[in-house]
Amino acid sequence: MSAPQITPARQMISAKAARFTESVIREMTRLAMKHGAVNLAQGFPDFPAPAEIKQAAADAIARDINQYAITWGAKPLRDAIAAKFARTQGIEVDPEREITVCCGSTEAMISAMLAVINPGDEVVVFEPYYENYGPDAILSGATPRFVKLRAPAWDFDRAELAAAFNANTKAIIVNTPNNPTGAIFRREHLEFIREMCLRWNALAITDEIYEHILYDGAEHISIARLDGMRERTITINGMSKTYSVTGWRVGWAIAPPEITGAIRKVHDFLTVGAAAPLQEAGAFALNMPDAYYTKMAADYRVRRDRTLAMLEEAGFRCFKPQGAYYIMTDISAFGFADDIAFTRHMIQEIGVAPVPGSSFYSNPADGAQQVRFCFCKTDATLDEAARRLKKLRAKL
Ligand SMILES: Cc1ncc(COP(=O)(O)O)c(C=O)c1O
Repeated sequence: MSAPQITPARQMISAKAARFTESVIREMTRLAMKHGAVNLAQGFPDFPAPAEIKQAAADAIARDINQYAITWGAKPLRDAIAAKFARTQGIEVDPEREITVCCGSTEAMISAMLAVINPGDEVVVFEPYYENYGPDAILSGATPRFVKLRAPAWDFDRAELAAAFNANTKAIIVNTPNNPTGAIFRREHLEFIREMCLRWNALAITDEIYEHILYDGAEHISIARLDGMRERTITINGMSKTYSVTGWRVGWAIAPPEITGAIRKVHDFLTVGAAAPLQEAGAFALNMPDAYYTKMAADYRVRRDRTLAMLEEAGFRCFKPQGAYYIMTDISAFGFADDIAFTRHMIQEIGVAPVPGSSFYSNPADGAQQVRFCFCKTDATLDEAARRLKKLRAKL
């Protein structure tokens, strides 16, 4: 047998995969575990999920809901999503033609982008941004156009947003309540975004997974509610945060029928479907009474206020969130060269893990004096963090 021919050296990984790094947030969780640090980095609760929702999942498995669900989502869950959207936002959607259940809102977002983006398309992204949107843009082939949300209110400049739109703009990603800033987009913000979308014939892709985690009377408005937006909005949501089940991986995209058709195709070939018994439990969860959501928000408010007090006492300048369960902070008082050096110090010497601010910006320098903490944690976890933070000393 003759020796195999040596082919020329070749790039073994794709140019797309080479353009982004692994998730900094999830890396912080691994580092926190390695160093025994209190994990205030990745946004998942360390308290139990509601007993009745867990029971609904156990019952579904016992009832043998254990095979593939319909690829775009089990009917009881799609019906519950449509009913809840009508109940909370007054928007009627057809569960047969306008909803796709995915493996978390993470998959809903990338499926939506793969379904609508063509080469040359641009997507407007507010920054600081939830880190997945960067790789989502690269994987779908979109060119991101970043627009700053500026502290302390994390508001955008209208002229800057208007300048980011052009004939190539296919969509804008809107995340409200916002991770990492805790900002809420009020009606006037959404109205301006609507104007831009109509002027440039662009879509809004909205990530609303913190819709029920609101403080101080803030209201969540789905942009699909605004005149002319229902037909150009992809509304993304999921069970992870509202029901404290981030590991279940159940989310969804709500979009007009033609776009839903494309999302369903992409989703089917990416994952086939989300876990069938957990979708059944989702149908149960989405029918929880109003009191469930009120109590959850009230409990998070208590956690927010005590975490703000703890961080301020330790020397952080905090940006008070109006929604979601994160606090962005300014770390200039500690005199570190950047957020990476500070985070390393926090994890290894202080024993509390935040997320470096630079991971939320296209230009890392913009986040070099910021870190984000999450507070979706038990009293015991927050007490331990407070105890450890006493070792931290501001230098100014
Ligand atoms: C803004 C935002 N979107 C999406 C996700 C991920 O959601 P899921 O668990 O539904 O994939 C997160 C998780 O932290 C998030 O903060």
